[in-house]
Amino acid sequence: MPIDRFRRGDLVADRFRLDHPLGGGGMGVVWAATDIASHARLALKVIRCDGEPSPAQRKRLVLEARAAMIVQHPNVVRVLDVVESPAGEPVVVMELLHGKPLSGLLEGGAVVSPRKLAQILLPVVAAVAAAHARGVVHRDLKPENIFRVYDGARRDVRVLDFGVAKLSERAIGDETAVRTAAGFAVGTLPYMAPEQLLPGGRPDHRVDVWALGVIAYECLAGRRPFDADHAAGLIAAIRRGASCPRQVPPELARLVEQMLAFDPARRPGLPEVYQRLSEHLVQRVPATRLAPTPARAMVAAAAAATGRKTPRGLRLAAMIAIPAAVFLAGFAVGWYSAGASDAATTPVPERRHEGRPRRAEVVGELVPARPLTDW
Ligand SMILES: Nc1ncnc2c1ncn2[C@@H]1O[C@H](COP(=O)(O)OP(=O)(O)O)[C@@H](O)[C@H]1O
Ligand SMILES: [Mg+2]
Repeated sequence: MPIDRFRRGDLVADRFRLDHPLGGGGMGVVWAATDIASHARLALKVIRCDGEPSPAQRKRLVLEARAAMIVQHPNVVRVLDVVESPAGEPVVVMELLHGKPLSGLLEGGAVVSPRKLAQILLPVVAAVAAAHARGVVHRDLKPENIFRVYDGARRDVRVLDFGVAKLSERAIGDETAVRTAAGFAVGTLPYMAPEQLLPGGRPDHRVDVWALGVIAYECLAGRRPFDADHAAGLIAAIRRGASCPRQVPPELARLVEQMLAFDPARRPGLPEVYQRLSEHLVQRVPATRLAPTPARAMVAAAAAATGRKTPRGLRLAAMIAIPAAVFLAGFAVGWYSAGASDAATTPVPERRHEGRPRRAEVVGELVPARPLTDW
């Protein structure tokens, strides 16, 4: 990590002491820092380069800070200021996050459950939708730029790094700032949409939907849908297509595959992505693993009474099950008419199925997910 221009203990803008480097990507190095006036712990992003940063690099870092400030969303890293280093370079002052990028979770091909995927990606989808609404396209969504925050018992998600974001004239109010500097690589190859890769393509905000589709696929499958180390190879892989592994629930697989539609017009919009993904915040568990409720006890009693048992077992089952069923039926009527609600009576989201439901869907039932803080 070339951090020579900045060293531990350096003072930036007479105020921020650099404590230690936290990480860096292709464009910057992020330091943990302390505001010596308030003792606040912060994160400072400086330009990564050997020698002097170019005017384009300086401008890009300032634009990055502006983009994050324009978006201002609870799930976007909070940028507080842009200050100058002693050498006159821009330095971005941000909130200091405690946690890890999503890339850390995916290391070694780890697979994420649909519920966990929803918990991680829903805040990202909300943040990116807010960015689009304000004329900002991120263009570099990838696991390294999605940060999972652990703050005591709190779990949260932040989108980082608007380093190659496209800001509309509406967002920035300055036409010259909209253009990307010549020769600037926009995006990261495995997450780039076909319209970003093909000459003459006209990329727009829907490249972010594509990248979110790649991330979702990677989380569910433990590998990326398309991989190549050059654009032509990646386009060829994209044309061959990718389908989600069989263990992914079909409605989720369909969503991810639609997000990866070659034609941007066929990709779902982010509100639709949010809605369809949020259906996976609930978890299927086998009925036998749930605490007894009147409805489930009756099902169990009926199964016990009709199941193949030894005569003695059948008698015993009937002795227990029939009085229990009568009692519970009365109880259940009272329960439902009183409008009480628990895991078994909570209305569940409507689900779309094609063909016969799978066995897991017959025996399982939906229970409310635990709050978003649980991951
Ligand atoms: N505010 C922050 N608090 C803590 N760590 C951060 C913060 N911002 C970035 N990082 C860490 O630094 C890494 C690089 O930051 P990023 O802004 O993505 O730089 P680059 O533009 O070079 O990719 C991130 O992946 C993350 O691990
Ligand atoms: Mg980055």
